[in-house]
Amino acid sequence: MAPSPKSTPEANANSNNDGKYPDVNWEEMGFSLTPTDYMYVMKCSIGEKFSQGSLIPYGNIELSPCSGILNYGQGLFEGLKAYRKEDGRILLFRPEQNALRMKAGAERLCMPSPSIEQFVGAVKQTVLANERWVPPFEKGSMYLRPLLMGSGPSLGLGPAPEYTFLIYASPVGSYHKRSLNLVVEEKQHRASSGGTGGIKTVANYSPVLNALSRAKAQGFSEVLFLDAATGKYIDEASACNIFSVKGNSISTPPTHGTILPGITRKSIIEIAGTLGYQVEERPVAIDELLDADEAFCTGTAVVVTSIGSVTHQGRRIDYKTQADTVCQKLHEILTGIQMGRLADTKGWMVEV
Ligand code: COI
Repeated sequence: MAPSPKSTPEANANSNNDGKYPDVNWEEMGFSLTPTDYMYVMKCSIGEKFSQGSLIPYGNIELSPCSGILNYGQGLFEGLKAYRKEDGRILLFRPEQNALRMKAGAERLCMPSPSIEQFVGAVKQTVLANERWVPPFEKGSMYLRPLLMGSGPSLGLGPAPEYTFLIYASPVGSYHKRSLNLVVEEKQHRASSGGTGGIKTVANYSPVLNALSRAKAQGFSEVLFLDAATGKYIDEASACNIFSVKGNSISTPPTHGTILPGITRKSIIEIAGTLGYQVEERPVAIDELLDADEAFCTGTAVVVTSIGSVTHQGRRIDYKTQADTVCQKLHEILTGIQMGRLADTKGWMVEV
């Protein structure tokens, strides 16, 4: 491990020890890249383990034109957030869960992965080195984007000879400013059984862009995919998991390979169970979603966002989004824990 950035002169020069923030309008910040000072980089060869990484100034990276990531999509990404508490301390939300998910994805894509300790340690170093960019209490969060990629050259199809683990950071605000209007995609699917829908490979995200662009061109905010086998059950949206609410019952599709095992998804299931809702992970028919009282989506970027409407085959269903919704209750508790307003009784928060 590289030494803690707190102990390096470079990091001290850029840290927030004097209480100064960069010139950012926190109120206006959405979910877009604001480059920060440092990124973390660690490399290893195939057959070896990751051992020593370091912080370097944020910037472009050099990559072989023949790299596994550029040619064969051998890559994964993660997303997690750091929050500043009212007392100034910085907390990460369940970072070990991202490390575990990256490990599972790396096995599927034949890549070495950092250990859980290396992953979490590297995230902490990245946050500390960029501390001045962690927004003030309740003004947003710092989004950390860990990447794992085949960076070495391989012309024939096969695992790349060299791998790079990299983390960069950006302060962010809300992904969506208001409730979502989803349209159900009729022609394309996001994932199929035995494929890679259950891991966070980069290759899962460009294939949704066509449907997402068509949806946005028609005024929708997100696209909802149905299962590839029957086209009868909801899968997930392009960037988040979906939940359906009917009475005291909350349902979401199970993570059996085509659904991304979202960390916010998992946390919401746990919080909802504690609140006394009957939570079920089971196939949810599109007809059932259209008949629901309420619907919402979850993800690190979207947090917990209510769904205002779903349009399927030209028929639009509107849902309850105002006042006393299940979504609002869950959002309040989750963000309360994340920002330190509520006690972290589950031990989810990790201090940087
Ligand atoms: C996240 O929620 O962290 C994601 O990875 C979704 C991304 C498409 C913004």
